[in-house]
Amino acid sequence: MQSLTQKLTDIVREAFVQSGYEAEYGTIALSNRPDLAQFQCNGALPAAKVYGRNPREIGQQVVEKLQSADIFADVSLAGPGFINLTVTDAYLAEFMNEMAADERAGIESVSQPRRVVVDYGGANVAKPMHVGHLRAGIIGESIKRIFQFMGDDVLGDVHLGDWGTQMGQVILEIKQRQPELPYFDANYTGPYPEESPITLADLEEIYPAASKQYKSDPAYAEAARQITAELQNGRPGYRALWQHIHDISVAGLKVDYDNLDIHFDLWMGESDVQNRIDPMIEKLEEEGYAVRSEGALVVDISEEDDKKEMPPLILRKSDGGVLYGTTDLATIDQRVQELKAELILYVVDHRQRQHFEQVFRAAYKTGVAPQSLGLEHNYFGTMNGKDGKPFKTREGGVMKLKDLIALVHEAALQRMDESHVAEEFEEAERQEVANRVGLAALKYADLMNQRTKDYTFDLDRFASFEGRTGPYLLYTAVRAHSILRKAAEQSLLPGEILPPAAEAERTLLLLFAQLTDVLQQTYETRMPNHLAEYVYNLANEFNRFYNTCHILREEDAAQQASWLGVTQLFLKIMEITLHLLGITIPERM
Ligand code: ARG
Repeated sequence: MQSLTQKLTDIVREAFVQSGYEAEYGTIALSNRPDLAQFQCNGALPAAKVYGRNPREIGQQVVEKLQSADIFADVSLAGPGFINLTVTDAYLAEFMNEMAADERAGIESVSQPRRVVVDYGGANVAKPMHVGHLRAGIIGESIKRIFQFMGDDVLGDVHLGDWGTQMGQVILEIKQRQPELPYFDANYTGPYPEESPITLADLEEIYPAASKQYKSDPAYAEAARQITAELQNGRPGYRALWQHIHDISVAGLKVDYDNLDIHFDLWMGESDVQNRIDPMIEKLEEEGYAVRSEGALVVDISEEDDKKEMPPLILRKSDGGVLYGTTDLATIDQRVQELKAELILYVVDHRQRQHFEQVFRAAYKTGVAPQSLGLEHNYFGTMNGKDGKPFKTREGGVMKLKDLIALVHEAALQRMDESHVAEEFEEAERQEVANRVGLAALKYADLMNQRTKDYTFDLDRFASFEGRTGPYLLYTAVRAHSILRKAAEQSLLPGEILPPAAEAERTLLLLFAQLTDVLQQTYETRMPNHLAEYVYNLANEFNRFYNTCHILREEDAAQQASWLGVTQLFLKIMEITLHLLGITIPERM
């Protein structure tokens, strides 16, 4: 169904046309003076310039046409020519009943679905996930769910980092510890053992050791790079060992992401394009896009009007190894050819802006990306500690994601105790509620910020049941659920929504009516903070309504059924919007 502002815009446009002006001037927005009116149209002002007339005169003509429309309770002219509009309560109720009857609360899906790949998460094989990967997972999951809900044909891909030097480092480290393994014998012809020589716990110890050595010992670093190049060029023993490292690492990552309620359709990675790289580079060389520069093979992507220097994209280093940009370019090719991608969204850290700029330019320039393909880097800022610096452990190290999640879970349990939430529940359910509360705290705190900005991680504040927090939203949704349950126990069911009986109720209903517009804005900008802001306002207004209109004590049956209808619609909107933020509401708490 059309949103309320869309419906009103149609009506006001018609009034502009009937008064002899272009329809475009009839666009409606929410009023910025809600004390005066619900909606406003400012089109008379720009129209006045174009038609060389007084804006109030134009406004007056339009107002006169609108006054006969029976959906308006009030239409008036204000200031230099603003048209103020307020709909009747009856019309508002009618709109609410339409929303309530619709499974998607009135949100239409797009008329032309696109094949969209959301590249997010971006964990690296062999390295533990750290807090830097958290925002990529949280924001990406939300953007993916929003695109899915809007009806696009979406694939979420974790795009693992599994083809870089860390692989050479880990292989080298294993080689030094267990040189007798067949993977390192160049004359061995297979088959290689099916069982992995290392476990996930081993890996968690091996990688940091290797990385430390890599940074301090140039000979070690050179050997690791050499192994990486040989791995990439297909040395069988390294490939076989790589597969083990990959598999145990991915099994661990799947558990971590599951715990965060983040789910990928594809578990692809840099290595999945290994077969495309040689043919791609050959073709680009033939076509003259790839040229030699200081022993490396590069694509020049600078443009005349560049304000700052744009380094070329390096496809192949002089040692034969390929880089991050090479795999990203080949991945675009794969997504276009095999996945039929029409739009690719990369939800990755802002520090990679130049990298994506290079890759996108190279992709369009070389034709790897058709001009019709959308490539967007939906970047995000850094998660800082309270000291304003990138979030670290107390000892100053990078915090592992597992440790962070454990901290959040603890904080949730503590806040639940303080607020007497889930107190009398069995332990298993209490822990489950704490999971949901902790994740809501973590995700909402992230998503409520405009993603391009840095944000400060403050667990005490995020886990509170009061204020702009995930736990507050869950608490309010669960309250609505419990009202409906208590009513049902007395055989009281939600019914037709009547015109609002109080100002608090009217405000809430008007907010419901904004759902489609807010979601549309979020979808178009890929900025979940708009939706996050809306959900918070929704919860606040519901609580105000709940305190004003005593639903369960109401004696008029029709009024009571109507309020239960409002409560049910509220819960439906909360379920939809929180789901789109990646947050799940507990049954009770
Ligand atoms: N693995 C990368 C990292 O940890 C992120 C990958 C992002 N996606 C991409 N297509 N480059 O920084």
